[in-house]
Amino acid sequence: MKIYEAIKNDHDIQRNLCDKIVTTSGESQERKKLWEDLKKELEVHAVAEERYFYSPLIDTDKMQEDARHGMAEHHEMDKLIQELNDTDMSSPHWLSTLQKLVEKVKHHLKDEEEDFFKKAKSVYSEEEADSLAKSYEATVDKYRKSWPDSIPGNE
Ligand SMILES: [Fe+2]
Ligand SMILES: [Fe+2]
Repeated sequence: MKIYEAIKNDHDIQRNLCDKIVTTSGESQERKKLWEDLKKELEVHAVAEERYFYSPLIDTDKMQEDARHGMAEHHEMDKLIQELNDTDMSSPHWLSTLQKLVEKVKHHLKDEEEDFFKKAKSVYSEEEADSLAKSYEATVDKYRKSWPDSIPGNE
């Protein structure tokens, strides 16, 4: 498996959680559970993706700007996650902030899949793309298990 496919698999999990959580209401068990799952997926993915997809690209002329842009969007998502953590889940503000987050996530995943992956394929060799996938997946597995403490800033 290549890094692009490994990332895309986790993007699909995120999209699925996003589609489900926007249909929930109030402070329901369902919303609470989906919010924990979505946060975990977004946080774990961002750390592993920065390490095994974006970081090596920062040093290239071809993708430095894209890599910075992608990581800046991770930061924007983090801020929205914090805002949601600090907001009463049953308030209209929570839902409108969630909708902002979902929109940002979907836009970001699309950028990565439709633009960045294509460009990265001319940077990473086939072998590199295989080995990055292995490292990415091992990190995601490990970090999911020890979430939220595994995330820098959460501990
Ligand atoms: Fe990302
Ligand atoms: Fe991603």
